[in-house]
Amino acid sequence: MSGEPAEQSPGRGPTEWFDHPVGVGPWGEEYPGIPLPEDAHFDPELLENGDRRNVVDGYRYWRLESIVADIDARRHKLHIAIENFENDSNIGTVVRTANAFAVDTVHIVGRKRWNRRGAMVTDRYQHLMHHVDTESVTDYAREHELTVVAVDNTPGSVPLETARLPERCLLLFGQEGPGVTAQAQDAAALTVSIAQFGSTRSINAGVAAGIAMHAWVRQHADLGDAW
Ligand SMILES: C[S@@+](CC[C@H](N)C(=O)[O-])C[C@H]1O[C@@H](n2cnc3c(N)ncnc32)[C@H](O)[C@@H]1O
Repeated sequence: MSGEPAEQSPGRGPTEWFDHPVGVGPWGEEYPGIPLPEDAHFDPELLENGDRRNVVDGYRYWRLESIVADIDARRHKLHIAIENFENDSNIGTVVRTANAFAVDTVHIVGRKRWNRRGAMVTDRYQHLMHHVDTESVTDYAREHELTVVAVDNTPGSVPLETARLPERCLLLFGQEGPGVTAQAQDAAALTVSIAQFGSTRSINAGVAAGIAMHAWVRQHADLGDAW
């Protein structure tokens, strides 16, 4: 056998503060003898039956609308758009990652329908907007003073690794096959590419979105606010 076992993280993260492998059981079992909390953000049904949702432990037993309101109070000035003219199965991944980074809104451009499986229910906590075409989302960006940054490895793009991203930013991604449309690139202040070193022409759009969102986080997010 080659290799060494991966080292265990020394501290506990936001999804492992409790010992239960999938969420928490009823309040009475988790905290015997401690009265039910009465704050309005707690959901009586979850307190009664347990909370098995994919949420960080800080939101255990919270009502869905209270979680959304709490994230709303500290959402980033980052918007994501993904072109969906051929029904891209990566959108679920993009939505889940956007939720993790407290993105303001994910804009779906083109077809309204998208495969929600990859979102793992995170779409309930994430603002989503649909736009019929690229012009509609770039108009939205202008009206909301967001700088459009297209993300693709097309001619004229600049390396994401060294680019300074605007804080009020709409990162716009293309889809498998065609990539970002020419119209989107024309409307963008710049196009950024992710450095590659192997044989493939491109990486998965969901992965590219995660890398680009994290590049924005490294430049603009307050890491003291992270879980
Ligand atoms: C699978 S790519 C398809 C287009 C790609 N230009 C090509 O020639 O194969 C789908 C989307 O993922 C993103 N993407 C993939 N690889 C990328 C890279 N190296 N740099 C920036 N974006 C990338 C872009 O948003 C792109 O529109």
